Amino acid sequence: MGLSCRPAAHTRRGIGRQILLVAALSLGAAGGAAAAVHQTRAPAKSSWGRTGDGSVEIYALTNVHGVEARIMTYGATLVSLQAPDRSGHFKNIVLGFDALEPYLGAKAYYGATVGRYANRIAKARFTLDGKTYQLAANDGPNSLHGGTRGFDKRIWQAEPLPVSQGNGVRLTYVSPAGEEGYPGEVTAHAVYRLDDNDNLEIEYGASTTAPTPVNLANHAYFNLTGDPSVPVLDHLLTIDADRFTPVDATLIPTGELRAVAGTPFDFRSAHAVGARIGAADEQLRLGHGYDHNWVLNKAAAGITLAAVVTDPKSGRSLEVRTTQPGVQFYTGNFMNGKPAAEEGSVFAYRTGLCLETQHFPDSPNQPSFPSTILRPGQVYSEKTILAVRVVK
Ligand code: BGC
Repeated sequence: MGLSCRPAAHTRRGIGRQILLVAALSLGAAGGAAAAVHQTRAPAKSSWGRTGDGSVEIYALTNVHGVEARIMTYGATLVSLQAPDRSGHFKNIVLGFDALEPYLGAKAYYGATVGRYANRIAKARFTLDGKTYQLAANDGPNSLHGGTRGFDKRIWQAEPLPVSQGNGVRLTYVSPAGEEGYPGEVTAHAVYRLDDNDNLEIEYGASTTAPTPVNLANHAYFNLTGDPSVPVLDHLLTIDADRFTPVDATLIPTGELRAVAGTPFDFRSAHAVGARIGAADEQLRLGHGYDHNWVLNKAAAGITLAAVVTDPKSGRSLEVRTTQPGVQFYTGNFMNGKPAAEEGSVFAYRTGLCLETQHFPDSPNQPSFPSTILRPGQVYSEKTILAVRVVK
């Protein structure tokens, strides 16, 4: 793999310096040290290159423990997330590149915000209020992740959060009416916020000028070993879901909510990702592995634990909490390690796994699924927290 295919570069020295600076500032402050520490930390912004649409910036959010998330304005993309192992060694746990250019050719939505509709819409069309809308079919007969040029391929406008709202960045994209065939002008926001308890919060908001489906999700591929050449099959996974949505041959849900009990889809207790992935199971065959939506149990209203993924060797662990009703667990079955120029994914087969918190696939065509239709005057609001943890 060439230089540009390595995980986003990072120096521990840089973080050390920043923490020292924060400590020095907080000592000099008149108020409580904790409050001062909080107030002095702010996102570091740098320029990250250009596309035909303009310049792209990258923001680095760092906390007191040295956890660092970097977000670029192209696709409101999570470029890297530095997390410690049980000996305190930090590594980047999301697949990504150390420059903008490889993202422009990459086909796998690495770390991006996907929209206007994350996941698939069957036959690339839907009917809303009696009118049928035709979208681009960019995944066989279906529309995937917003179409030919979804939210992941747009430059978002960014501003750091006011310090009173935490250490974060707010990104905005205005999607014109008719873009990719969708009705209504949608104003979408993505807010990334990192706190000192090692929680990276991703908040999505949207409003519209006409009724439209909206489903926004982050498409990070996690590899908690920190080595993007190592497959994720030994990662241990728990998903708090009693049911999943089985799919047809084009990965569109059949409409059934099927019990996971007694199937390789039962992750209610921790299982290695690879333990049953090769089982003789019709759904695993159709998905080429795991590429399905789990129906989260949502025992309480608001934000609940959706999934926990752990690399038992390093101890790096991630808890995923969300307000969303579903999570698409995808094991990188279409990753092939080929260069982007050959329509490749660059990273190799199953070297990353996605836990895309979102509404169920194809909801605009599935009346029994929770609705994804946003109407003028309504506010779309969803939150996911990626909690960086270490297990013994
Ligand atoms: C989908 C996969 C698809 C991938 C594209 C995932 O969200 O579930 O089927 O290949 O995105 O990178």
